Amino acid sequence: MNGPWREPDFLIRDLKGMKLPLLGSLLFPAFLLAQAEPMAPTPPMGWMSWNLLADKVNEQDLKQMADAMIGSGMAEAGYRYIFIDDGWQGGRDRLGNLVADSVKFPSGIKALADYMHDRGLKLGIYSDAAPQTCAGYAGSLGHEEQDARTFAAWGIDYLKYDYCHAPEDVNTAKARYKRMADALRASGRDIVLGICEWGPRKPWLWGAEVGGHLWRTTYDIRDKWRRRSDESGGEGMIDILDINATLDDYAGPGHWNDADMLVAGLYGKPGPSGDGGGTGCTDVEYRSQFSLWAMMGAPLYASNDLRRMNAATREILLNEEVIAVDQDPLGKQAARLLHDELWDVFLKSLANGDHAVAILNRSDTEQQFDLEFSALGLSGAYEVRDLWQHAVIGVAPGWKGMLQPHETKVFRLKKP
Ligand code: GLA
Repeated sequence: MNGPWREPDFLIRDLKGMKLPLLGSLLFPAFLLAQAEPMAPTPPMGWMSWNLLADKVNEQDLKQMADAMIGSGMAEAGYRYIFIDDGWQGGRDRLGNLVADSVKFPSGIKALADYMHDRGLKLGIYSDAAPQTCAGYAGSLGHEEQDARTFAAWGIDYLKYDYCHAPEDVNTAKARYKRMADALRASGRDIVLGICEWGPRKPWLWGAEVGGHLWRTTYDIRDKWRRRSDESGGEGMIDILDINATLDDYAGPGHWNDADMLVAGLYGKPGPSGDGGGTGCTDVEYRSQFSLWAMMGAPLYASNDLRRMNAATREILLNEEVIAVDQDPLGKQAARLLHDELWDVFLKSLANGDHAVAILNRSDTEQQFDLEFSALGLSGAYEVRDLWQHAVIGVAPGWKGMLQPHETKVFRLKKP
């Protein structure tokens, strides 16, 4: 009807297609809003404890990291979560409830969650779909509902759910992740679920269906550019890129490909990221990882010591123009349109009609690149903004220039 008088049973729809009478919607507006926005509408951003603290994680360092996330301007730039990784657990009490290690977390996890929430931040936690976690602490198998209720009561906002000590077959993985997803949903609190089975069971094919909001696509990142041919394990940035870049069809708001932590600022620090040949990267390489992860709409989890960042690391983690590419509300993962030994070129469509283009020099020597935007299916001239120079560098139908070894240029193209 067009007139001001509408039928009282005028219907609106939420995203799930459920019909609700208008009267009902007026009574439950918050409920409707919660339904309309998927969880993790943009890739989660924050700081994850594993690479820096491993299982020495503790409340004091986490609070300091939260303070540094705020003090450095990162919180304002979009970083929201402090993610407690493995090692926080102190076993189960006699009722079977998970408890925190009382030496590492003397005030308990609830107090830590309150600390984060009071500052506008969120708290993530870690468990595993088996009796034990990767580092040998208590896992959640058989306690899913109980643990989900515990996490909800503590005020947890995100669960990274690992898969060590679990059977290899995909059906068991799907069932175990679904059970935890259902349990989290039944807990009554919005808790984002990060699936962490590292890729062998192709979680991009079933992660969303079982209730996950993102899924790791590879084994753990190390602080290195690329795995050498004589190294048996340890994923470098390029090894992860070459898997994650092919999965763009599977990402979107509420369901992301997780390419693992950022290693910017670690500089070869001993610890998990230093294993498997992780002897450190150059700032050019750290900048490339940040750029490429943003193009792929990957979650941005810093893992360096935010309390002691040098200027180069700060500049990377705080590049708000690159962050805007990652957090673009359209939620499209960039398509890798050119890929050979020397070059990768990515194109990402953005919500306002702009396009982000990234050019990566994969080689170990300086190279010149000449890109006609028409090769990416774009026509005519664009205003070209360099997101590392923070400046418009011209209006043109292409770009030509030099790239250092392992450098990534990121441009935002706008129709003039
Ligand atoms: C696995 C995960 C890592 C980290 C460790 C903790 O290796 O992939 O990201 O959570 O477990 O033990």
